[in-house]
Order: sequence, then C-alpha cells, then structure tokens
Amino acid sequence: MEKEISPLKTVPTLRQLAMPKDTNALGTIFGGVILSQIDQAAAIEAHKYHKGAVVTVAMDEIEFKQPVFVGDVVSYYASTHKLGRTSVTIDVHVFAQRQFAEEDDFIPVTEARAVMVAVDENNKPIALNK
Ligand SMILES: CC(C)(COP(=O)(O)OP(=O)(O)OC[C@H]1O[C@@H](n2cnc3c(N)ncnc32)[C@H](O)[C@@H]1OP(=O)(O)O)[C@@H](O)C(=O)NCCC(=O)NCCS
Repeated sequence: MEKEISPLKTVPTLRQLAMPKDTNALGTIFGGVILSQIDQAAAIEAHKYHKGAVVTVAMDEIEFKQPVFVGDVVSYYASTHKLGRTSVTIDVHVFAQRQFAEEDDFIPVTEARAVMVAVDENNKPIALNK
C-alpha cells in the first residue's frame, strides 16, 4: 500500500476504545473485531460515492503487526485508492494508542484494501456518483 498516513495530521474515519468483550483467550483483541471495523470504515468512505447500500466484495490479505489491548484507542483511516464504475477500492490503515503510554504514539496495527460495491434495492451493482 503506497500511501502513508500521518495519524497526528489526519482525521480518522472511525475511532473505538478496545473493550474486554472483544478479547480472545489471550486477553488481546480479536482480529475479527478489527476486521469488522475496517469494513465499517471502508463503507463510510464508499458512501461518499453512493448514498445507499454498499457491500464488501473483496478484502486483500491482512497481516496483524501488533496486538491491540483492552483500553487501547484504535483509529481507522480510510482513503480512496481507485474508483470503478460500480466499485470503489479503499485503503484502511489502523493504529492503536496504548492506554498508559506517556507519549501520543500511534502504533501501526494493520492495513487492508477493501473493494466495496454500490448496490440497488435488488442487491445488484449500480453506478457510483463520481
Ligand atoms: C458484490 C456483488 C453485488 C457483485 O456482483 P457481481 O455480479 O459480481 O457484479 P459485477 O461482476 O458487475 O461486479 C461489480 C463490481 O465489483 C467488482 N468486483 C467483483 N468481484 C470482485 C472481486 N473479487 N474483487 C474485486 N472487485 C470485484 C467488479 O470489478 C465491478 O466493479 P466496477 O463496476 O467498478 O468495474 C455480489 O458479488 C454480492 O452480492 N456479493 C456479496 C456481498 C456481501 O454480501 N458482502 C458482505 C460479506 S458477508
């Protein structure tokens, strides 16, 4: 993913406090919870081009680089990579701020590329408003 994100200079699409209900057996946050938020951040970005339903058709391979702990603030930054006729490809960068960190460090957690498709009332692809 070529684009760099500067968390201190960019408004996040989504922010969430990591809570105990989202933990796995190790006590860290489930990858699936992060994936779900990535999906939501991508949908918010996709709504810029379609004021209706959007669905996820694809997401690329995802690598979790650092764990997320209860109490971390997790920020999701979505940006448009490519616009198609009915689809929009969106990059989502995810950073964690540790609960007890003295510095305002943003730790890169993961990043993903999602393809969202605008659909009509019959769930069929519909052209984006560009
Ligand atoms: C998304 C969906 C409506 C697309 O239907 P389709 O018949 O494949 O439609 P098309 O072939 O016309 O493709 C529509 C767009 O999606 C893109 N697309 C389709 N499959 C893709 C894939 N695997 N990767 C990337 N883009 C893809 C196409 O390139 C096209 O983009 P464009 O119009 O910008 O050129 C259909 O696959 C679907 O309903 N999937 C389930 C979505 C869902 O429920 N997601 C939640 C996960 S549980």
